[in-house]
Amino acid sequence: MSSSSSSVTAEDQIHTHTHTSMGSAEIEPMGRCHVVALPYPGRGHINPLINLCKLLVSRSSDDLLITFVVTEEWLSFIGSEPKPANIRFRTIPNVLPSELVRSADMPSFIDAVLTKMEEPFEQLLDRLEQPPSLIMADVFVPCAVNVGKRRNIPVAAICPTSVSVFSVFYHFDLLVHNQHYPFDVSERGDERVGYIPGISSIRLVDLPTIFYESEQLLYNAVEMISHVDKAQFLLFTSIFELEAHVFNALKAKMPIPMYSFGPLIPHFTLGDGASDQMASHNDTNYHKWLDSQPQGSVLYISMGSFLSVSSAQMDEIAAGLRASGLRFLWVACGEASRLTEACGDAGMVVPWCDQLKVLCHSSVGGFWSHCGWNSTMESVFAGVPMLTFPLLMDQVPISKTIVEDWRIGWRVMKREGRMENLVGREEIADLVRRFMDLESAERQEMTRRARELQKISRQAMVKGGSSEVNLSAFVRVISQLTRTLS
Ligand code: UDX
Repeated sequence: MSSSSSSVTAEDQIHTHTHTSMGSAEIEPMGRCHVVALPYPGRGHINPLINLCKLLVSRSSDDLLITFVVTEEWLSFIGSEPKPANIRFRTIPNVLPSELVRSADMPSFIDAVLTKMEEPFEQLLDRLEQPPSLIMADVFVPCAVNVGKRRNIPVAAICPTSVSVFSVFYHFDLLVHNQHYPFDVSERGDERVGYIPGISSIRLVDLPTIFYESEQLLYNAVEMISHVDKAQFLLFTSIFELEAHVFNALKAKMPIPMYSFGPLIPHFTLGDGASDQMASHNDTNYHKWLDSQPQGSVLYISMGSFLSVSSAQMDEIAAGLRASGLRFLWVACGEASRLTEACGDAGMVVPWCDQLKVLCHSSVGGFWSHCGWNSTMESVFAGVPMLTFPLLMDQVPISKTIVEDWRIGWRVMKREGRMENLVGREEIADLVRRFMDLESAERQEMTRRARELQKISRQAMVKGGSSEVNLSAFVRVISQLTRTLS
């Protein structure tokens, strides 16, 4: 399901360039401790889970083996990316015929995830040489909890979005009880909800879009989130200090232990040349281009790994960027060639990039983002202020968190309801000029805040930091589970 102003881009259009084979030799399952990981088939879900697996393996003695289960389609996308030998891929069939891409028909895709993953996943478990001590599965793949219950295997559910978004769905009954669902967003969008534990006041229009765009998807999401109570652990990719109030309020009523490990981003690849070697020739061009730009002068633009906006909106953004005179690096998936001439020579348009490396480049001073949770965590880690341009689902409440709670960004447009109207080129040119004016007082305050949150994100990851302490505790939990099994 996409909002009316967003068209879609096939997942496979992104992966036009091939990776050189960097896969490492796979070890056989000699490990005593065996974990099976099952992500929802999408990059925004696979990235954080495989990053968590890499961290767990790096902290465990050599006997931890992780079987990472992806669809055949996703193995073709990530199979050659470098990974530790203790992590091995196994596949299940694609949930849908490959011609139906995930975002072209979100309801069908989600329905397929709900109905077509359980059986092949169980069959895969039957084929494993060694039963797992633990299943780590995406909150939005609830079948794992059913399988774990049947086979008496503990399940750790991992939430790929913010704790706040999780809590909004978890407290759906409160919204119903207070007559804040259902609602007509065009009439009541500005009404505020202040009673969700730990969450600051939020407008109805800033709830996940499925609250007013798709009753079916909303009930799916509420059902999946309520399913978490049947798991044994609840894992978050967020940073405790950035969502402490809502995390603590949730923990007070959650019947299972909760851990936050964020930011679960591939920061460990920043130093090495491996990912550069993985890039094909044209990818490294943008690195060279960034190296030649003044500090903080480049606006980086991306709408995530599988969504896009309508061609008409693309054209307005291109014309607005051209008129602004700013330098920019724009990830436009399948439309890169069409937009290159439209944008003029002040910037670069690419089909894909190593986003975390780009955000951490000194020439990048701002991030026009659709506010996917991973992009948001990466921007916080890089200390880069954001222009929020949410398209659907959790991106809208995440935009509210960025702008109203963390105060490290501006909205590209004030959301009145469904994303019907276009943002015009003049408005875009004016907005990006003001946003990238590093000397303005408003921008300097936002940069200061972004650096503050960057420091918090880095501190969470070092020894004694909240995420590091949680990670070490969770490693102990896994080894304890194995001991009780053996
Ligand atoms: C999806 C949902 O759309 C999002 O709302 C939810 O929060 C997570 O799942 P996605 O749209 O893919 O995520 O966005 P995001 O969460 O930001 O993840 C995109 C990932 O792709 C990021 O890790 C980003 O670094 C990576 N990316 C994106 C690249 O590496 N290069 C690119 O050019 C673009």
